[in-house]
Amino acid sequence: MQLTSDYPKNRVAVFGLGYVGAVTAACLSELGCPVTGVDRDPLKVDALLAGKSPFYEPGLDGIIRRNAAARRLSATASAQDAVERTDIALVCVGTPSERNGNLSVEQLRRVSAEIAEALRRSPKPYLVTVRSTVFPGTCEEVVAPAFEGLAVQVVCNPEFLREGAAVEDFMQPSLVVVGSADPQAAARVARLYEPLGVTPHLVSLRTAEMIKYACNAFHAVKIAFANEIGAMASKLGAPPEEVMETLCRDVKLNASAAYLKPGFAFGGSCLPKDLRALVFRASRLDLRLPLLEATLPSNGQHLGRAIQRVMDLPAGRLGVFGLSFKENTDDLRESPVIELLEHLIGKGRDVRVFDPQIRLGSIYGSNRQFVLTAIPHIGRLMAESLDELLGWAGHVVVTQRPSPEMARKILDSGVPVVELAGPLER
Ligand SMILES: NC(=O)c1ccc[n+]([C@@H]2O[C@H](COP(=O)([O-])OP(=O)(O)OC[C@H]3O[C@@H](n4cnc5c(N)ncnc54)[C@H](O)[C@@H]3O)[C@@H](O)[C@H]2O)c1
Repeated sequence: MQLTSDYPKNRVAVFGLGYVGAVTAACLSELGCPVTGVDRDPLKVDALLAGKSPFYEPGLDGIIRRNAAARRLSATASAQDAVERTDIALVCVGTPSERNGNLSVEQLRRVSAEIAEALRRSPKPYLVTVRSTVFPGTCEEVVAPAFEGLAVQVVCNPEFLREGAAVEDFMQPSLVVVGSADPQAAARVARLYEPLGVTPHLVSLRTAEMIKYACNAFHAVKIAFANEIGAMASKLGAPPEEVMETLCRDVKLNASAAYLKPGFAFGGSCLPKDLRALVFRASRLDLRLPLLEATLPSNGQHLGRAIQRVMDLPAGRLGVFGLSFKENTDDLRESPVIELLEHLIGKGRDVRVFDPQIRLGSIYGSNRQFVLTAIPHIGRLMAESLDELLGWAGHVVVTQRPSPEMARKILDSGVPVVELAGPLER
């Protein structure tokens, strides 16, 4: 850890001294920030004032003891006192589940009102940073309205720590994200982490709110995936640990950013076939694998949303870019585009298609059979070139990633684009 000479002297109030707040307060004071912890629970306030951690977390007690003794870390039950002493609030109150599973933002609403009340009594510019886990829109719709008429900026800085390794995760973070509509406000919060030597990712407010859900859902899906594959491996006599360790050796396609871009539905000759076989064999073995069983239906839902998006376009000529399930292949087996086309044609839409890799005259066997069974007159729908497609179409629906030249041509054509495979890059 390297303290720089101009490390900001922002005084920080941490609202909520639970697992996230106590660790945040203690670790920021360890980095050199004067921190005031605030909690409505007097036991937590008293613990901090006595230089003790309010709960067990490896390494936390020592950090609190050291910084309380050095008077860099103090605590209060009064929001007014905390706001008066500080320039930035980090809000770490709980966002528990309601009975129906929805997220409760009541603590957040209340703490925002308390900070606002304190600022109305003692007005000054102030920065309110939400570290609690909240849905996109919460900062704008729940937090910011409490500060109307006050010089307050709202930033989101989600927390990614794991209980049991929370201090280590704060000091060596896997990810620091700061979201705000105001770059200066974001920069002030980002600089709190400067001594850690990490580069915070500055994003929009809603991305910062969403990212925590994305991360937690991803972690949960990874664990469930490893357990389902492990269970299947055991049933089939393959050692589960060795299977998953070997899977992780592939850092190009498996443990990597590959396949993690939102885009069009998957298809092709392997993924649907192999998933179907896996799920079928598992059921024969009396093994329920709900995550894997749900994957093809999930893909079907995604395709359904794409079809609806295209169906919602005004009636007119629809040019479809891409016929095979992904770019740079002429394999048409189980291409989701074929299902999209079947649907559009079935509803009487005027459709033409261009795929840079497809010449109907030169595809054979099961590949040719697949497309002709689904759309016998596909030949009449094929455009010879991208220029021809763009010259004809009223809208162009892009189902695979075009080359940069083709992307430029599509964007420059002025034909409105429906980007099903992610944003076009010039
Ligand atoms: N626990 C984790 O591992 C973890 C990790 C990352 C993010 N999060 C998220 O961080 C948030 C906090 O989680 P936690 O586990 O620390 O919660 P927690 O319930 O342990 O602590 C919340 C604290 O906020 C205090 N509080 C509530 N209203 C207050 C108010 N008006 N003024 C002052 N204090 C108030 C409560 O008394 C409590 O001590 C949640 O949104 C959670 O989802 C938790």
